[in-house]
Amino acid sequence: MYNIRELRAEFPILSRVLPNGKPLVYFDNAATSQKPNAVIDAMSRYYKTYNSNAHRGAHTLADEATTALEAARESIASFFGASPSNLIYTSGTTEAINLVAYAWARRNLSEGDAIVLTEMEHHADIVPWQELSKEIGVELRFVPLDLEDMCLDMGAYRHALQGAALVCVVHTSNVLGIRNPIEEIITLAKESGARILIDAAQGAAHERINFKELGADFVTLSAHKMAGPTGIGGLLATNEALSQCGPFLTGGQMIKSVSTDGSIFRDGAALLETGTPRIAEAIGWGAAIDWLSKIDFNQMHDHIKSLAIMAFEGMSQIDGITVYSDPTRPGSSGTISFLHERIDSDDLAMLLDEGGFALRTGQHCAQPLMDALGVASTNRISLWLYNTEEEIKSFLSYLRMICERFG
Ligand code: ALA
Repeated sequence: MYNIRELRAEFPILSRVLPNGKPLVYFDNAATSQKPNAVIDAMSRYYKTYNSNAHRGAHTLADEATTALEAARESIASFFGASPSNLIYTSGTTEAINLVAYAWARRNLSEGDAIVLTEMEHHADIVPWQELSKEIGVELRFVPLDLEDMCLDMGAYRHALQGAALVCVVHTSNVLGIRNPIEEIITLAKESGARILIDAAQGAAHERINFKELGADFVTLSAHKMAGPTGIGGLLATNEALSQCGPFLTGGQMIKSVSTDGSIFRDGAALLETGTPRIAEAIGWGAAIDWLSKIDFNQMHDHIKSLAIMAFEGMSQIDGITVYSDPTRPGSSGTISFLHERIDSDDLAMLLDEGGFALRTGQHCAQPLMDALGVASTNRISLWLYNTEEEIKSFLSYLRMICERFG
């Protein structure tokens, strides 16, 4: 049974009252989720009782830190249906995509090779490829949006895939909440002989992703959008893809030996982690994964979807509001972008903030998508497992009041 009250009680921040006396209504989960006590306590326990570097010392604390770091890797990898040796800790999705661009693409692609992206990507899945294009002359092909249905134009996708070397696609849009048909895209990419990267920064917080079953070459993850801490995420990569990677960041940890004549590197995932690991963050992410493992994702999804549909229908009826999402589509994440035709999006966000509603405003690190929608920015609510029907009702009535008063 999905007990929202018990679940919310595990997130201390959700009972916060803002300086103006309004209770916090947190609708900015696509930017970062809140953290349950299990995560906060696990990180605090590490710092209070066994803070030490990992994979280095021979003392008790070092041993405990190393064990916890690697236990977290096992939990996280297993949650995603992967082996621990296929999970590389990174600072998040942005670093994971850069890692693929530097360590894999620079070694395996050359001038004239085509990379297929989409207009729905956020900047982390565009800019590294633009840099690569400037450097080695790879061609970038952007699959457009079908604006009628707010989804990718699959006819154009098929066309763009012809002769492509790499396909990079977002699992779930951080602006529209649309879940892309990634299974179909992976199949099509493989048929064209291209490698495929799935950006699951948003998707991983909303559905159980199984790396082996999915069959992608690379999957990128951010811990902080799924109850974990900031500063850590990961890259899941197949053994075959790992065997084609060169070093990314160089220095300690990724080496077998170093002499003044040169260095010999380690293989596989170990080649791609350098320097002191993100120990506290990995422990926190592991705790978030253990916590999420107890959540029934189907129930969670149904809960978020029903709230998102309620919000979508309510907002669509408010005079002056245009909604750029469709939470009724299968797999949608409960992220809804919207604009008022007369109230500036920054002003609207400030007015909503006064009511206690935390939401994001701007380009959402997705300017090409804003261009495709023909807007400069949007307001965006993004829901997660702890949001409630009461919060949606109070948001709709507050938004209606603002629009009537200022619109
Ligand atoms: N990409 C994150 C967001 O959508 C930061 O807010």
